[in-house]
Amino acid sequence: MEPAIAPIPCDEVLRHLLAGCGLPVADLAEPMERSFFGVHDADRLVAAVGLEWHGRSAQLRSLAVDPGWRRHGFARRLVGHAENAARERGLGTLHLLTTTAAGFFTALGWSEAGRATAPEGIRASAQFRGLCPSTATFMARNLSGG
Ligand SMILES: CC(C)(COP(=O)(O)OP(=O)(O)OC[C@H]1O[C@@H](n2cnc3c(N)ncnc32)[C@H](O)[C@@H]1OP(=O)(O)O)[C@@H](O)C(=O)NCCC(=O)NCCS
Repeated sequence: MEPAIAPIPCDEVLRHLLAGCGLPVADLAEPMERSFFGVHDADRLVAAVGLEWHGRSAQLRSLAVDPGWRRHGFARRLVGHAENAARERGLGTLHLLTTTAAGFFTALGWSEAGRATAPEGIRASAQFRGLCPSTATFMARNLSGG
């Protein structure tokens, strides 16, 4: 049976997983509406994904799988789960920035997008403003495409 995906808090356990996977955690201290979902092995958090809500738009972030648990399809399932959560809020498009996994997202139906097309709330986010280098790929996913 596939491990369940469940909402998780933005706590030290999550930050430890993200930092161990080389992802930013500093900006998580900024107050903002975020949702996180995770996969556990027994009691251990082994994979996670986050959504930052910016009004009528949202940014997927913090996709991380513990190195010992990669290639089990957790990341793919977590992205699908996050996409559904955004769809349920009535969003038509989801965005993200990545320096490491553009190919992974392209395989899931995401496309590279010009940074100038970023909705205002996302453009103001810490990740967009500078946490990720300007070489990061900005991507969009049309949620009405299934
Ligand atoms: C990227 C990451 C989440 C993928 O986790 P995973 O458990 O390997 O993913 P899944 O098992 O769901 O999917 C595996 C598939 O994605 C591909 N893939 C994994 N990482 C990839 C990457 N960085 N670029 C392109 N493709 C990638 C694999 O080749 C595999 O494809 P296949 O099934 O056709 O062989 C994981 O490597 C990770 O945590 N990396 C460090 C953090 C990071 O870079 N996160 C993304 C930030 S936006």
